Amino acid sequence: MKYLLGVDLGTSGTKTVLFAQDGRAIGSASQEYPLFQPRNGWAEQNPDDWWQAARNTIARVVRDSGVDPEDIAGLGISGQMHGLVMLDENGEVLRPSIIWCDQRTGAECEEITRLVGAERVIQITANPVLTGFTASKILWVKKHEPDVFARCRHILLPKDYVRYRLTGDFATEVSDASGMQLLDVPNRCWSPVMLEALGVDERWLGKVYESPEITGYISPQAAAATGLSTRTPVVGGAGDNAAAAVGTGVVADGRAFTTIGTSGVVFAHTDCLSIDPKGRVHTFCCAVPGAWHVMGVTQAAGLSLKWFRDTFCQAEIETAKGMGVDPYDLMNAQVSQSPIGANRLFYLPYLMGERTPHLDPDCRGVFFGLSAMHQKRDLMRAVMEGVTYSLKDCLNVLAEMGVTPRRMLACGGGGRSEVWRQMLADVFGCPICVAQSSEGPALGAAILAGVGAGLYPSVRQACDSMIHVASSQEPNMQNAPLYAERYEVYRTLYPAMKDAFARL
Ligand code: XUL
Repeated sequence: MKYLLGVDLGTSGTKTVLFAQDGRAIGSASQEYPLFQPRNGWAEQNPDDWWQAARNTIARVVRDSGVDPEDIAGLGISGQMHGLVMLDENGEVLRPSIIWCDQRTGAECEEITRLVGAERVIQITANPVLTGFTASKILWVKKHEPDVFARCRHILLPKDYVRYRLTGDFATEVSDASGMQLLDVPNRCWSPVMLEALGVDERWLGKVYESPEITGYISPQAAAATGLSTRTPVVGGAGDNAAAAVGTGVVADGRAFTTIGTSGVVFAHTDCLSIDPKGRVHTFCCAVPGAWHVMGVTQAAGLSLKWFRDTFCQAEIETAKGMGVDPYDLMNAQVSQSPIGANRLFYLPYLMGERTPHLDPDCRGVFFGLSAMHQKRDLMRAVMEGVTYSLKDCLNVLAEMGVTPRRMLACGGGGRSEVWRQMLADVFGCPICVAQSSEGPALGAAILAGVGAGLYPSVRQACDSMIHVASSQEPNMQNAPLYAERYEVYRTLYPAMKDAFARL
């Protein structure tokens, strides 16, 4: 029996899972790390925290599984996208990583758009210039920290920094590189136009692979730190959403998933390049060689509920500890006690600005309609409903582009909540399935490793062998019209507050 390792470098922590060749999870380990928000709208993490979490979780999983490291046929990494890691000529980290949800680069986005031209940027990178993406972060460092920029010799994405620590190679792959705004997305290679506009030397960027290709092997130092074998190959892997697509079998036209992790995503596979001319959803290369995906992003999905939990739910956290359960289980139970519409309370999930459909770094979260009769459970329910409406906004844009999925899977932490899945089914008006394995991105990364190691001939065939759909929740026909009415009110709130957000 051969085994495959998937490492998922998330925003709240890294999770490493060891899978048997048939997709069964054999063991897993997680380690959390902090997110630093030195100013309103800023978000940074330490690349060394990611490496420590990756090496510790790999070492733990390999040791505890008792599997012979020589039988681990491959390792794949998936990761939070867009974060900027800058290294000097010795491979030392130059500054904390400015990560995907950081919103400081509005001015730099305007500058890049002016330099390259709004239409040309979309033609080349398949997306408008966005604060979340890497290019504007590079320009911000160039302008505000010229000493750091002068010493920069390598630019990496978060998971590619972990790859560098595992193998010593500077490399990336098309799905994650698509979110840098430096890649020619239709042609799957670095764009000389974008590099020139930013003053970035192509030698600073890693070689771009397709996601299942082998990019290197575990180095002797990393083998000593993790217990892995130097004969284990590391494949390209994928950005977290592209990896989740593989891990849920969303690898052919007509298939889609929605994830509620720190961010929320509605993601659909497409064999043909399809770009929203208004730039409200992203088009990226996907982990299936030669194909793409379109996805809408809610910046603060799980993050909204996590913020609510950490700020207002100390009692639930304590009780859950005593009962040995997850605080979210207690919160879900309370949400079920509040009626649909949360007693006429709305929440706009714009804690970190918003991408789909507003593309607005300046908007912020809102509770709308608060009354003295509201209880904590209504606020919690409003948070979950607001995130769900925002995901419905994403689905609507995909529908406008003619991308109409026939099957929708749910994943991420929020996808594990039955209450939240029912909301999704009722608001989307379609059945919501879950995969048997809840390890979406880690499983996707491991599947890509299985293809790279030659255990499977293609990503699609590997998915057929390793992924099984477990259950499906049907929309409740009585609830759907109630939500539809609420959603119409929700849609009027952002336009009414847009100018006030800008002044805020
Ligand atoms: C996608 C995006 C997020 C991050 C973090 O464009 O920014 O999904 O990858 O999960």
